[in-house]
Amino acid sequence: MAIANVGIIGSGAMGLGITHVCAQAGCNVVTVKATPGSWEKAKATLDRNLGKLVERGKMEAADKEAILGRVTFSTDERAVADCDLVIESVIEDLETKKDLFRRLESICRPNALLTTNTSTLSVTAMMAVCKQRDRVAGLHFFNPAPVMKLVEIIHAFETSDDTIQSLDAFCRHIGKDPVLVQDTTGFIVNRLLTPYMLNAIRMLERGTGTIESIDQAMKLGAAHPMGPFQLADYIGLDVVEAMAHNIFADVRHEHHAPPHTLTRLVQLGYLGMKTGKGFYDWSQKPAVQNPQLVRPVV
Ligand code: CAA
Repeated sequence: MAIANVGIIGSGAMGLGITHVCAQAGCNVVTVKATPGSWEKAKATLDRNLGKLVERGKMEAADKEAILGRVTFSTDERAVADCDLVIESVIEDLETKKDLFRRLESICRPNALLTTNTSTLSVTAMMAVCKQRDRVAGLHFFNPAPVMKLVEIIHAFETSDDTIQSLDAFCRHIGKDPVLVQDTTGFIVNRLLTPYMLNAIRMLERGTGTIESIDQAMKLGAAHPMGPFQLADYIGLDVVEAMAHNIFADVRHEHHAPPHTLTRLVQLGYLGMKTGKGFYDWSQKPAVQNPQLVRPVV
């Protein structure tokens, strides 16, 4: 099935990034703000993100306008009724997502594909609340969605081959390189990346190195664009902690349990770049390691 009209539910960093990618590839996109309030701020954020690319000579001003012209914002989920594909990117809460899938099933056309951008929740659990399950799958993008080439296509228990083929063609059409993954907690990337970041935090707690030395080591020694602490701050420490909880709940292996320092930072509201402080103090230019973490938080 050719996918020309895409519905995105959720207008946070991921929802807007996916909106950008799909509209840039020529799809008509309906982006629904899932939480109360107007969509004006989401539209302004997309406009600003595209504007930065124009300022830096990465995009023509006319292309920016064409992209914005293909996006319709709404606060009404029913606006996705005519979409060929819906990608939900709302809060990482299974009950919220299950309720959304129940509603989408009655809103969308019978041949529309219904997908989730969850990082660590069960796609099969979302599928289970649907009557027509063959069209349900995961479509997991990475942050920043306009830059990261990978999309994990998640095959849940009753996803049909036709659905997988359509999603594979769609990902290639929007310029991504998809990999097919069976529905297991954390899929491929987060199942490997989450314990990696958690082990870096435990390494800090043991005093093996500092935030900066561990990051420097992984950037220069493993050719990662960001070290584990910079990456955790970039993803958001609340998100990293939630991923750890979800994987630990399934695997029950101590490697996946959130370390003390992570839990304390989240409790204190230090969530990384989005709050200005996490493992680093991002108000400084360049960012410096959070002075409160020179000694482990105990
Ligand atoms: N939108 C569009 N383009 C963007 C962008 C954005 N939000 N952010 C950066 N870019 C572009 C820039 O325009 C630039 O383009 P050119 O190469 O054409 O010049 C390029 O990306 C590099 O950007 P910068 O020079 O500004 O900065 P950088 O070189 O430090 O790269 C980065 C920034 C792309 C974020 C890079 O540091 C990186 O790849 N970091 C790792 C990101 C990562 O691992 N993400 C996965 C997180 S895990 C996840 O998402 C899963 C989950 O479920 C939680």
